[in-house]
Amino acid sequence: MKHFINLGDLSKNDLNQIIDNAIILKKEYKSGRINTVLKNKTLAMIFDKPSTRTRVSFEAGMTQLGGHALFLSERDIQIGRGESIIDTAIVIGSMVDGIIMRVSSHDNINTFSQNANVPIINALSNESHPCQLLADIMTYKENKGSIQGKIVAWIGDGNNMCQTYMQAASIFGFKLNIATPKGYEPNPSFVTQYFDHIKLCTDAKEACKNADLVATDVWSSMGKEYEQTKRKLAFKGFQVNRNLMKQADAGAVFMHCLPAHRDEEVSSNVIDGAQSLVWSEAENRLHVQKALLLHLLA
Ligand code: CP
Ligand code: NVA
Repeated sequence: MKHFINLGDLSKNDLNQIIDNAIILKKEYKSGRINTVLKNKTLAMIFDKPSTRTRVSFEAGMTQLGGHALFLSERDIQIGRGESIIDTAIVIGSMVDGIIMRVSSHDNINTFSQNANVPIINALSNESHPCQLLADIMTYKENKGSIQGKIVAWIGDGNNMCQTYMQAASIFGFKLNIATPKGYEPNPSFVTQYFDHIKLCTDAKEACKNADLVATDVWSSMGKEYEQTKRKLAFKGFQVNRNLMKQADAGAVFMHCLPAHRDEEVSSNVIDGAQSLVWSEAENRLHVQKALLLHLLA
């Protein structure tokens, strides 16, 4: 049994196969072909944070594959009233075929994987967001080909998305330039582990030089909203706008996991402009997670 808690939980070969299969599944879906391999399978979806893309894509994906998805917010299950993570994992794991989790603590996802007898998928934690990176790499591949050997610029917060880009850089073999304000760097343990694949700086222009892909995310992630005022000041100068995109390669593309705050971390004319791939990137969550579910549950 395999889990998908971090990108590195699956081999590079498995990840590439999932992405290639996602491209096929996308074509099949658009041509009306039905694939119900997950008939009679149930996916539990435990969320203690909001979500649009992740929830809808997993739920629609399970329906399209003939299975069923069960949305469980912390208010719906006894975790919210103090039942332990371990007890919850044992019980839910005994009834379903897979579990996705969007929870504040990455450790709780690990605890689940040690106690539930089914594959566990990280649907975003404080540490990483591997499902989003699958969609990003797929989107790059569809539009530009392999990301191997390319230059990626990460602009803004050294958050869960940035840290997953660091893992992706080591697996898929691209160079990652990270520009953050001082004090907002990725976790030092990630910096040490992925040192060979990244370059850290505080200058967004320098990070974007010759980049093939420029990516960013909100300045205040879920759970950090109380720091919004302080962060808006700290991140001034880290907006991805046309001026910054000019530093990148002429054929560069822009990505953002969404939700975005227009004219904060990204200018409207970049996110809505010709270089932006954000809508395919969001749509591809559906197709790549269907491929992931087939890999883990079928
Ligand atoms: N990108 C992403 O995970 O979006 P949601 O928070 O809407 O799921
Ligand atoms: N870094 C963001 C990603 C949202 C998909 C957050 O954690 O809120």
